[in-house]
Amino acid sequence: MHLFSILIFCVSFSAFPVLAVITDDFSKLPKRKYDFIIVGGGTAGSVLANRLTELNRWNVLLVEAGPSHEGVFDSAVPGFAGRLSRSLYDWNYTSIPQASMNNRTQNAPRGHILGGSSSINGLAYTRSSASDYDRWALHTGDEGWSWNQLLPYFLKSERWTRPSSGEDITGKYDPKFHSANGLVSVSISGQPLASDVKIARAIEELSGGFSFDPDPNDGTPLGIGWHQVTVLNGTRSSAATAYLGGRFASRKNLHVLVNHQVTRVTQTSHSPTVEFRGVSVMNQGGGPTHLFQLTAKKEVIVSAGSYATPQLLMLSGIGDPSELIKLGIQPLVNLPSVGKNLSDHPRFTMSWQLGTSNVIDPATNSTLQDEFLEQWLTNRTGPLSAPSLNQVGWLRLPEDSGLWDEFEDPASGPNAPHINAGPRGGGLYPLPGPLFQATCALTVPQSRGTVKLQSTNPRDHPLIDFGMFTHPFDIRALRDGVRLLVKFVSTPAFADYSLTPAGPFLGVDLDDDAAVYEVLRDATSNNAHPVGTAAMSARAASYGVVDPDLKVKRVKGLRVVDASIMPYIPVGHTQAPVYAIAERAADMIKGAWLT
Ligand SMILES: Cc1cc2nc3c(=O)[nH]c(=O)nc-3n(C[C@H](O)[C@H](O)[C@H](O)COP(=O)(O)OP(=O)(O)OC[C@H]3O[C@@H](n4cnc5c(N)ncnc54)[C@H](O)[C@@H]3O)c2cc1C
Ligand SMILES: *[C@@H]1O[C@H](CO)[C@@H](O)[C@H](O)[C@H]1NC(C)=O
Ligand SMILES: *[C@@H]1O[C@H](CO)[C@@H](O)[C@H](O)[C@H]1NC(C)=O
Ligand SMILES: *[C@@H]1O[C@H](CO)[C@@H](O)[C@H](O)[C@H]1NC(C)=O
Ligand SMILES: *[C@@H]1O[C@H](CO)[C@@H](O)[C@H](O)[C@H]1NC(C)=O
Ligand SMILES: *[C@@H]1O[C@H](CO)[C@@H](O)[C@H](O)[C@H]1NC(C)=O
Ligand SMILES: *[C@@H]1O[C@H](CO)[C@@H](O)[C@H](O)[C@H]1NC(C)=O
Repeated sequence: MHLFSILIFCVSFSAFPVLAVITDDFSKLPKRKYDFIIVGGGTAGSVLANRLTELNRWNVLLVEAGPSHEGVFDSAVPGFAGRLSRSLYDWNYTSIPQASMNNRTQNAPRGHILGGSSSINGLAYTRSSASDYDRWALHTGDEGWSWNQLLPYFLKSERWTRPSSGEDITGKYDPKFHSANGLVSVSISGQPLASDVKIARAIEELSGGFSFDPDPNDGTPLGIGWHQVTVLNGTRSSAATAYLGGRFASRKNLHVLVNHQVTRVTQTSHSPTVEFRGVSVMNQGGGPTHLFQLTAKKEVIVSAGSYATPQLLMLSGIGDPSELIKLGIQPLVNLPSVGKNLSDHPRFTMSWQLGTSNVIDPATNSTLQDEFLEQWLTNRTGPLSAPSLNQVGWLRLPEDSGLWDEFEDPASGPNAPHINAGPRGGGLYPLPGPLFQATCALTVPQSRGTVKLQSTNPRDHPLIDFGMFTHPFDIRALRDGVRLLVKFVSTPAFADYSLTPAGPFLGVDLDDDAAVYEVLRDATSNNAHPVGTAAMSARAASYGVVDPDLKVKRVKGLRVVDASIMPYIPVGHTQAPVYAIAERAADMIKGAWLT
């Protein structure tokens, strides 16, 4: 970034709301006894901290391992999201070698910052299929997790806004399914890309499963529609900016401790019930390590995310006793499902080279990049004001592919897609970029993995095994996904682009299954959507970690509220469901303590 830009940045950025209650100095905390202690100031944790402090007699402490999001430029600028992985704001986890993927390891990004992964993610706002939630309800025996009962919580968290460009977005979404009264801003990019026209034409030419989807967030995401993103006037809207900033900063009953990691939740009573209302907290960063103990009067709520939540539970003696004993941890609560059933969407990107010469590549043109930055700094508009993806595709695999002779359809219902496609050209309207690309994610993966402890040291990363491609359905379905994408770009709409496969598919015979599988094993990764590692199950189930009210089974005073509680991965990106889960959890917690 040029010096001139940095100066403008300081001036314009200081106008952002400041959080008053946030500190990284434990000794400055005014209280030692809190009604609720929330572990992890991420997506779910920020929602809970906000909602529980609506009652001003409840004191809440939110403990976050990473730093504050305030003044973090790359987090604020949507177009710079890609810079946040493997930065100070990422835990930098790496999976163990994936045996079914030629032993490759994978980056497993996770927010290490206030707002958690919502402060570093790709800003996609997708709610998934109604039937995904109806399956949760069936699985847990709690109708409250059904789409009809969860939709009000999606709406409670959402604040629909217009894009900073002022573009008219009428017809690009269905207002019936949106709310202007929530906190997280949701919008449409408003930045035209050359590929918009091509994609619209291809949709008309193909129709069928590729039809225009009037709103991808209406509970029946099928077809291709305009992509919705968590952006407010060209700036990232995260759990931290939406739920902890602005008018909430002055709440005297909300205390946010950053740069502090909870190392254990601790047992505070053995009989007549097992209670876990304590936490051990360790300072991060430089200087000597200090450990502090705190107790919650009402509950400890673990919202550390799908990797750190099972890690913390296991470090605390909650998990599979035989695994804990091997590491020298005294088992306190027998819950073998902790860290099991890790699920994520396997995803790869297909690229095609344009055969035409009239292209422009913003990614390598520094003149353009300077213009974009200036546009963002002065007006919050331009390509940096949104992710460079304008359409989202939700596709079913065809009936006649042969796949269904071998496998049962794992989708939650006929309105749940199998494939999530993100088609885009890198260029700016009207000139296309040198590549046309489409991400392709399997929305209904059958493989499951694990999160285990590497050691008893809370600073050590957990052992993440996605188990990717361990179930034969997944790679088989992705191969059919490749065919869908090829069908899409083979329409007359794309003819004048003269596309030829590039990237990992360069020179690969797409009809040769063995060759395609080999590319998929080398080029597929996780989608940063880990779920299921502290899954909810019915009260009477012999497995699972939390009950449908998200209380840890067999324990009092301890709840888990984050993506880890999802029993089945929804078809879409996972932040919108986490917002809804946390909003509902806040109501359940209020209900439990206000009677
Ligand atoms: C790079 C990336 C891109 C993504 N893109 C999208 C997208 O475009 N759209 C979408 O919907 N979803 C996306 N996701 C997924 C989505 O952001 C997550 O599913 C969601 O934010 C998870 O919320 P959470 O509350 O479960 O966990 P998080 O938001 O990750 O919060 C967990 C918090 O706990 C903190 N923490 C962990 N351990 C401790 C501890 N011991 N003590 C104290 N604090 C602790 C962490 O630092 C973190 O702040 C993406 C995720 C990533 C990482
Ligand atoms: C993650 O890795 C990057 C690059 O190596 C490093 O700068 C950053 O500090 C790391 N993040 C954390 C939280 O340690
Ligand atoms: C993966 O690693 C295992 C154990 O080291 C080895 O036996 C196996 O041959 C490797 N597989 C591939 C495809 O390299
Ligand atoms: C994993 O999830 C499945 C389906 O929800 C369930 O049947 C199974 O018992 C779970 N396994 C564990 C170890 O929790
Ligand atoms: C970079 O972009 C500028 C502004 O659009 C354009 O004039 C120039 O030709 C581009 N340079 C290259 C190398 O494409
Ligand atoms: C900002 O917006 C104004 C008004 O539309 C416009 O005149 C100006 O060129 C824009 N500035 C930049 C840097 O894009
Ligand atoms: C969006 O941000 C720009 C630049 O800071 C500002 O001029 C404009 O008023 C903002 N618009 C809204 C709706 O807040």
